[in-house]
Amino acid sequence: MTQILVTGGTGYIGSHTVVELQNAGYEVVIVDDLSNSNIDVLDNITKITGKKLAFEQFNLADAAKTDEFFSRNKNIAAIIHFAASKAVGESVQIPLHYYRNNLVSLMNLLDCQLKYGVANIVFSSSCTVYGQPDKLPVTESTPRKDAESPYGNTKRVNEDILHDTIHANPQLKGIALRYFNPIGAHPSALIGELPLGVPQNLVPFITQTAAGLRKELSIFGNDYDTVDGSAVRDYINVVDLAKAHVIAIERLLKGKNKAGYEVFNLGTGNGSSVLEIVNAFEKVTGVKLNYIIVPRRAGDIEKIWADTTYANNELGWKAEKGLEETLLSAWNWEKRVRRIQ
Ligand code: WQD
Repeated sequence: MTQILVTGGTGYIGSHTVVELQNAGYEVVIVDDLSNSNIDVLDNITKITGKKLAFEQFNLADAAKTDEFFSRNKNIAAIIHFAASKAVGESVQIPLHYYRNNLVSLMNLLDCQLKYGVANIVFSSSCTVYGQPDKLPVTESTPRKDAESPYGNTKRVNEDILHDTIHANPQLKGIALRYFNPIGAHPSALIGELPLGVPQNLVPFITQTAAGLRKELSIFGNDYDTVDGSAVRDYINVVDLAKAHVIAIERLLKGKNKAGYEVFNLGTGNGSSVLEIVNAFEKVTGVKLNYIIVPRRAGDIEKIWADTTYANNELGWKAEKGLEETLLSAWNWEKRVRRIQ
């Protein structure tokens, strides 16, 4: 069986991608430092797929441990690299941690790819590299802008590190996937988004408010130039997103890539405002949400959504799950985690 290394594979998007890789017949080995995820995820992945997986716990910013791992794991055909610190607000507080963890981890991986002959890598990037686009929807050729946070900057710099390393070493092939806003959970409700501490992202904050863990949702600003004044994002179902990673891996393994380094936007092509998300959540769950309007959050952009043409045509991939189904999956996951009937 073809073996895929998934770094950060016990995390939110990583775990959903491991499920889809196993469903597609791949053997998976996960490396994760468990700094922002729970080891129980491994059993839950196996409960979903019925397949075992290999797991090693260490931080990829440790070059010696990363090299030692590759010296023992000689059958890796490709890497999907999720492992990174990812809290926008936290990155402003501790930028050095973000630059060290996110950049050094990728550089250590690339060193090992060159040393041990692992040609293929799919990198978890983000629409945050576009900043506030001048023109919408966003295509892959929309110019990247200075990030609003160190987190966003690490995504942009890592794209450049990947691009330049591949350009200098044509035996390597890589794809950067720029996610828009991943939300929802696996239909089994066995895996999902479980932020440690107070959720930074909208949907986990909504589900924790609905579950009674949070007094109310603060909506950061309703004075934007949008349909209802609240900010607009392109919310994509995490399972749809995971499936795109399997397609990207197969593109590389089968040599279908048209350049050494490729970039794809992964969104739905639809923008939804915060208030529209709140209303859709209330409609599909029947749960009334307490919320207040507060001033804008520093670093937030006003509106962004993807032009999905390139990914649709080139990858043959399209987001399929709708907003209401996705929000319900997030609620079902929250209820299972909090043991709410
Ligand atoms: C969405 C909208 C908030 C919380 C970031 C990163 C991106 C990715 C996802 C990691 C915004 C509003 C939020 C709340 C609110 N990161 N909001 N109240 O900032 O678009 O994207 O997270 O994978 O790379 O940039 O996502 O979910 O934080 O915010 O009103 O309590 O919800 O202002 O308009 P964001 P988000």
